[in-house]
Amino acid sequence: MGKVWNVGVAGLGAMGRVVAGGLASGELPGMRLAAVAEVCAENPFDVPKVDFCALALACDLVCECLPAAAVPDLAAACLPAGTDMVVITSAALLLYPEILEAHRDSRARIFVPSGALAGMDAVRALASAGAVTGARLASTKPPAGFGRADIVDKTRIFAGNALGAARAYPANVNVAATLTLASGLPPEAVEVEVWADPAATGNTHEIRVESAFSVVTARVEGQPDPANPKTSALAGRSVLAALRRLTAPLVVG
Ligand SMILES: NC(=O)c1ccc[n+]([C@@H]2O[C@H](COP(=O)([O-])OP(=O)(O)OC[C@H]3O[C@@H](n4cnc5c(N)ncnc54)[C@H](O)[C@@H]3O)[C@@H](O)[C@H]2O)c1
Repeated sequence: MGKVWNVGVAGLGAMGRVVAGGLASGELPGMRLAAVAEVCAENPFDVPKVDFCALALACDLVCECLPAAAVPDLAAACLPAGTDMVVITSAALLLYPEILEAHRDSRARIFVPSGALAGMDAVRALASAGAVTGARLASTKPPAGFGRADIVDKTRIFAGNALGAARAYPANVNVAATLTLASGLPPEAVEVEVWADPAATGNTHEIRVESAFSVVTARVEGQPDPANPKTSALAGRSVLAALRRLTAPLVVG
């Protein structure tokens, strides 16, 4: 039998519970939930709750499921220790450049799952040829998703680039940061629109990525996880799918 990865989860909110639950249920061959870190919520898992430093030391890989502002502290524990990270709050990688700077001096790897987006396989392929010439994202959510119950008509609440979007909506537009990182373009070059729509029943993300030899368009109409309505079913599953790729004998896409 090959190596068993000890995996930690930082943050046991909506996303962290989906990820830790998948690990604890044994659905990921070759991986086990080793420890968690959480400041407020209860720990329903049968593993120790520890601080970020102890988590980094106890684990081969840590899944970040935190608010953006807490990600630099987790990275400061994991990267010097050489502990790999899965970062779902990709906006933090744009907002806190010190994370990617520290990463350059570390042997740890950072994995950014596709989250609530589709089409990242094709974008990655174009980016590997340095061929991406333009990238655009439009995200639409119900107004409550932005804490804007006052909005009664479909309204564009942001138009700008991926860095501006991450600053304005760090909890909502990780997709803009993920698209940026996959495309290889600087965040200032990725165009982003954010819409609040009272008629929307879920979160919709549409991308258009242009290159000299292909144009990629992809649209996801995301629904909440039936077991955990606070997180989108696709985003939670994307973390578990990213973990599965790390030990899978056959990797597609
Ligand atoms: N990439 C994507 O497509 C995508 C999709 C959905 C969510 N996300 C991101 O995933 C992250 C998690 O989302 P969520 O819905 O689970 O959020 P959440 O608010 O439900 O959970 C965050 C948890 O982190 C805990 N926490 C905060 N600071 C901490 C600290 N210093 N140490 C330990 N625990 C701490 C909180 O107590 C909370 O339980 C968010 O940043 C969200 O924006 C990304």
